[in-house]
Amino acid sequence: MKGHSLSPPEAQGEGVAARVRAARVLADVLARRATLPEALARHNGPAADDSFVRELCFGTARHALRLDHEVRRHLRQAPRAKDLDVHALLLLGGYQLAHTDVPDHAAVHATVAATAGLGKGWARGLVNAVLRKLAGADLRGDDPSLPDVARFGLPEWWLQRLRDAWPQDWQAIVNAGNARPPMTLRTRRKRSLTLAALADAGIAAHAGTLSDTAIYLEQPLPVTALPGFADGELSVQDEGAQLAAPLLGAAPGERILDACAAPGGKALHLAQMEPAAEILALDVDPRRCQRIRENVARAGVTIDVRTGDGRTPRQWWDGKPFDRILVDAPCSATGILRRQPDIRLQREAEDMPELLRLQRDLLRNLWPLLRIGGRLLYCTCSVLAEENEDVIGAFLAEHDDALCLPIVFGNAPEQARPRAFGQQLLPTVAEHDGFYFALLERRTTAA
Ligand SMILES: C[S@@+](CC[C@H](N)C(=O)[O-])C[C@H]1O[C@@H](n2cnc3c(N)ncnc32)[C@H](O)[C@@H]1O
Repeated sequence: MKGHSLSPPEAQGEGVAARVRAARVLADVLARRATLPEALARHNGPAADDSFVRELCFGTARHALRLDHEVRRHLRQAPRAKDLDVHALLLLGGYQLAHTDVPDHAAVHATVAATAGLGKGWARGLVNAVLRKLAGADLRGDDPSLPDVARFGLPEWWLQRLRDAWPQDWQAIVNAGNARPPMTLRTRRKRSLTLAALADAGIAAHAGTLSDTAIYLEQPLPVTALPGFADGELSVQDEGAQLAAPLLGAAPGERILDACAAPGGKALHLAQMEPAAEILALDVDPRRCQRIRENVARAGVTIDVRTGDGRTPRQWWDGKPFDRILVDAPCSATGILRRQPDIRLQREAEDMPELLRLQRDLLRNLWPLLRIGGRLLYCTCSVLAEENEDVIGAFLAEHDDALCLPIVFGNAPEQARPRAFGQQLLPTVAEHDGFYFALLERRTTAA
């Protein structure tokens, strides 16, 4: 087998219509009109095609920069903006050839046929010629003569930042970002019972080492196939992300703010850890708030979900201090690239200053909402110091009522990288994503 198992939906005429849809999705991503999940939602089609389209798009995005390089070798001119759908088809074809077990002739035939579905019949010969050349080429082996962008699958500015930040580890971080992520679950019940229930259902799984609640499936599955998903006993959540709620803690009757809460993974964890806590889940994006509500309803927990900007509490805060605050800040997502493979195509160096300002502004504006003695957990899914310990260092320099507490990952302290402030987890191929955590306590000031 040459790669990932991928079955075109039989009902859809060798999957031609599914490839047309995938090309439209990917063209939106390449044009930066939408993120991959947004574009998938926008271009809906027969449910029978959904997982094939999703797999094609996620897989192609993961390898897009290498594939783009290989495709362009065979193009006489750069793709025109109005023909990004044809370029997307070429990338999708390259992905099938290099990374899936779709037989080459079937991949070429169905992808060429998809030109007509896009209304670009003129491109049939071009797509056919390029894919036939790609079919004989090595599209995935390491080749030091490749430009770094193609070789490592990341934009130059991103690689540079990784090399600067992690001179020893940058290549392992790149490998983790280019890998297919494992499907990780968080169990609400005793883990051994959940593992036994999964085994009874014929689902192979093993326990995580870092978090007591983490379970890895040997093979990804639709969530609907999981016993306990529908009633919130099981949630899909990376093992690193599962550390946040226990690090922040929760006690009965406490007021807890999750200030950047959507889609609600960590808020849900907090509510399940301590059902008698009073939790406010805030997010600036109303559509994403709807996703929190759906997750809350599934899990049957009580969380107050509100749309609001964490930087302007006057618009949504009732004036009563919080005992604990979680700031899971928007960030570069450099620690979770494998789960959001399209960010390598969309994130730009120019985005960074605004993200850094947002992170600092969120912290500054939320801090006064914390009671004296209360705790705030700042976390990101970034591996870059500028979004992590630098943000916390600057915050501590400005706030003499803030103390940075030590963090110990009980089960596997050796997996964490202690920073000047807080702890960093670097992403791994087989296990957790990359995460950063800093735990602050509010003290009375000397004044
Ligand atoms: C890393 S995600 C949060 C993930 C979430 N905590 C979870 O575990 O499922 C960051 C979130 O911050 C939200 N966000 C961005 N800017 C914000 C702001 N100014 N105020 C509140 N939320 C914001 C984004 O919409 C996004 O949902």
